[in-house]
Amino acid sequence: MAALTPVLLFLLFLSANSDESSKLDSSCFSAIPISNSVAALYVFGDSTVDAGNNNFIHNAVRVNYLPYGIDFSNTPTGRFTNGKTIADFIAILYNLSLPPPYLNLTEAQRKTAMDGINYASAGCGIFPNTKPPGLDCWSLQTQIEVFNRTVQEDLPCMIEDPQELAEYLANSIFFISMGTNDYTLNFNNHHDPEYFANSLLIQFRWYLQTLYNIGARNLVVNNIGPLGCMPSMINKTGNGQCDEQMNQNIMPYNSQLPQILKNMQDEYPNATLTLANSYDFLQDILADTEKYGFTDVKDPCCGAYVQGELACIPNYSTPCDNRCHSLFFDASHTSEFANCIFVRDMLIIKD
Ligand SMILES: *[C@@H]1O[C@H](CO)[C@@H](O)[C@H](O)[C@H]1NC(C)=O
Ligand SMILES: *[C@@H]1O[C@H](CO)[C@@H](O)[C@H](O)[C@H]1NC(C)=O
Ligand SMILES: *[C@@H]1O[C@H](CO)[C@@H](O)[C@H](O)[C@H]1NC(C)=O
Ligand SMILES: *[C@@H]1O[C@H](CO)[C@@H](O)[C@H](O)[C@H]1NC(C)=O
Ligand SMILES: *[C@@H]1O[C@H](CO)[C@@H](O)[C@H](O)[C@H]1NC(C)=O
Repeated sequence: MAALTPVLLFLLFLSANSDESSKLDSSCFSAIPISNSVAALYVFGDSTVDAGNNNFIHNAVRVNYLPYGIDFSNTPTGRFTNGKTIADFIAILYNLSLPPPYLNLTEAQRKTAMDGINYASAGCGIFPNTKPPGLDCWSLQTQIEVFNRTVQEDLPCMIEDPQELAEYLANSIFFISMGTNDYTLNFNNHHDPEYFANSLLIQFRWYLQTLYNIGARNLVVNNIGPLGCMPSMINKTGNGQCDEQMNQNIMPYNSQLPQILKNMQDEYPNATLTLANSYDFLQDILADTEKYGFTDVKDPCCGAYVQGELACIPNYSTPCDNRCHSLFFDASHTSEFANCIFVRDMLIIKD
């Protein structure tokens, strides 16, 4: 059994359950099959997966107020959605506890966290200089440096034997969901989209290699969704349509990413590099709104027009009642229900 990678183990498990998982459960959540094949989940990324790190970063963009978290036991944790994120559902998929935000752990807790940790920080990107104007966050580089500290200083308190520690890391999943902000905050019309994507991917590949060098073997990588179709962008076009220029700009990144992953896969046969295709997932829903029972794929479930921006504001915006029928929770983040379907249907790799 040791020769089987966790992902492969999971495939075996899934095929045994394919009948069950194809039945669409009205809530999605209970339709997620559970596997015990993964040791831990380590999460890197931006607001798509931040679980509250930004609450502890001075001068960071944060959503530690209701209605964010309204479906997370009515607790605003700092997640940019009404309930759980994609990363949370991956944890559920592998029967792990939800990876806690690193900055919410005490020194002692860091030395006992065996199920994984979340380093994600809203607003940042792959390029170290991608940041919201005047605000702070943890870039991918910072997140990886902190993870390295976890491996050097904290994990050895639980797993003393270096060989065992290497196996533990090799049996863990590393989920990276980043790149959106590099386009929304760093890309401008002077950039050539091909050149920008190339530079971004060279940088990204280097980070993946760094994670590999630290011990990561199962890397799951999100691509960039159709940014131009986020409610905030649709609102800006003024005609109710997607911003197609924005969608074009991200194209070279999404089309080159699979090749980057394949090259790395060839170079590191012991690693498994998996694409989490949020672009196709969202395009699929936009093309066939009713597919998963969504009735609104254009408007944010929580949004008010404030100072020229669509925003979900504390004590002001009221979220929609039927959050299982809205693709977006706020103007730029998907709802918990969409996150759940993504993990259930798209992230569980079939080939
Ligand atoms: C999930 O893990 C718990 C222990 O943390 C275990 O009791 C339970 O049986 C596991 N669930 C599945 C479906 O394997
Ligand atoms: C990880 O930490 C070790 C020990 O401090 C250091 O030698 C190494 O360069 C670090 N690696 C990265 C990628 O930061
Ligand atoms: C943007 O959204 C606000 C609030 O829903 C709406 O009042 C406004 O008309 C929208 N603007 C455009 C250009 O769609
Ligand atoms: C791959 O893993 C095997 C068994 O764990 C090991 O012997 C081999 O050196 C590894 N190969 C590379 C390229 O890391
Ligand atoms: C929202 O309302 C609650 C309760 O009335 C209050 O405690 C909180 O400070 C308000 N939040 C903001 C950001 O105004």
